[in-house]
Amino acid sequence: MIYLDHNATNLVDPRVRAAYERALDEAWANPSSPHAPGRHARKLLEAAREQVAELAGVAPGQVTFTASGSEALNQALRTLLLPGARAVASAVEHSAVLRALEALEAEGEVQVSLAPVDGRGRVDLAALPDLLTPPPAVLCVQAAQNEVGSLQPVVEVGALAAAREVPLLLDGSQAVGRVPWRWGELPWDYLVISGHKLRAPRGAAALVHRGRAPEPRPLIVGGPQERGRRAGTEPVAPIVALGEACRLAAAGELFDAAALAAERDWFEGALLAAIPDGVVLGQDVPRLPNTTLFAVPGARSEALLAQLDLAGISASAGSACGSGALERSYVLDAMGVSEALAQGRVRFSLGPETLRAELARAVEVLAAAVERCRG
Ligand SMILES: Cc1ncc(COP(=O)(O)O)c(C=O)c1O
Repeated sequence: MIYLDHNATNLVDPRVRAAYERALDEAWANPSSPHAPGRHARKLLEAAREQVAELAGVAPGQVTFTASGSEALNQALRTLLLPGARAVASAVEHSAVLRALEALEAEGEVQVSLAPVDGRGRVDLAALPDLLTPPPAVLCVQAAQNEVGSLQPVVEVGALAAAREVPLLLDGSQAVGRVPWRWGELPWDYLVISGHKLRAPRGAAALVHRGRAPEPRPLIVGGPQERGRRAGTEPVAPIVALGEACRLAAAGELFDAAALAAERDWFEGALLAAIPDGVVLGQDVPRLPNTTLFAVPGARSEALLAQLDLAGISASAGSACGSGALERSYVLDAMGVSEALAQGRVRFSLGPETLRAELARAVEVLAAAVERCRG
């Protein structure tokens, strides 16, 4: 098996797995229980909160654990978007943002405007001042686009938002741990971190708030867990794993971004040599170090992915929700990519485990699949 779909979900880092397994053994008790095993579980839970807070540059009380990035995004939106509010989001946000906004719109009284992006999937900064006038209740921008990998101009976006006192919801799901940014120095009000994109297992994510951001309002009510921001007994082991992943990320030890980018660049060179009319989308802007969105005119994503899958190679057509299906990509539509090119796209996302020989094999199989598609 050659796994080139790390943006859908990653393999768990061995150090993170060790922390997770230790927590399963040691912190099985309910962290709200006042007895000794409960207190031990609480200790591990709060240590993980400190690790996430350290990465985000905030106090631990500003970290709310959720089960997924999608939940954290929904919670931030529902905290800020009261009836009558307006939201601005980039047109290439993840569906967890766009569908949540649509749902709020359908419930009435919330108005949504989408900010256009350029041909590389980066927010059009020139369009923002108008969209932020009058100031909306939130501006949502991803740190990194999950299909193309392009990094958003977060500092510039944040400055425009701050000048108008607009809270910035930064979706760090694909970027935290993968790009060596100092998250505490970036201009966000809410930051979302998703464990399973950061070499932790699924089951834990974090919504971090600070500055103008009101404290997250609960989506789930019940017990007083998470300071009343999210009811439900905390899943300590996934949270401990998330904490360990954040610790490694803050220390620059989770990914070697330069090494990943070097492999990715070699891969792109090899792809273009084997399929000269292929296009690497977003190649010329700052990107995630592990992501290649390759589009082949005249080919069909589903056929290419099926051939890759038959050869034991896992890739995707973009967002995992659309894997294998020949749906139009709203991201590529927003970028102005022609349908002829978009329908022959394959997203490869590498991880630290990826071997050069695996990349070479993927090139070989893709080139043969393209031939077959055209023949
Ligand atoms: C940019 C982005 N935001 C949010 C999410 C949702 O995260 P989760 O899978 O943790 O709900 C994803 C997952 O693909 C993503 O890529």
